[in-house]
Amino acid sequence: MSIWIFMVALYSAQGADPEAGRSAYVAKCQACHGPAGKGDGPAAGALPKKPKDMTTAEFWADVTDDSLKAVITKGKPGSAMRGFPMKPEPLADLVAYLNTLKPPS
Ligand code: HEC
Repeated sequence: MSIWIFMVALYSAQGADPEAGRSAYVAKCQACHGPAGKGDGPAAGALPKKPKDMTTAEFWADVTDDSLKAVITKGKPGSAMRGFPMKPEPLADLVAYLNTLKPPS
């Protein structure tokens, strides 16, 4: 088994860490996306198009972990959402944190 496969196996066994993801969110995302992910951060008022409310079932009906990862790393062209290139582990942690915003179904 190659060391790379070993590392991936080790990582997936540990799972993503939403708490680490929360720190990244606070540092990089909440200015626009808001403290609770509602799209109402202090910087959002000035934006022509506001980020969506990530605490609604409607938002989660349209996204997957993979689609979230794509938007986060590549951004949305033509919007204030720039890409945040990240290594797979911190990205998985961040997406795990975003998943904690999902309303109970
Ligand atoms: C400078 C403000 C700003 C920052 C910082 C920012 N975003 Fe965004 N983000 C936006 C805006 C505005 C949109 C909506 C773009 C559109 O649909 O035109 C968006 C869209 C998104 C979307 C797609 C869903 C949606 O709301 O349309 C995701 C997911 C997202 N951002 C995650 C993040 C994450 C995670 C971070 C931190 C790593 C982050 N964003 C940082 C402004 C920002």
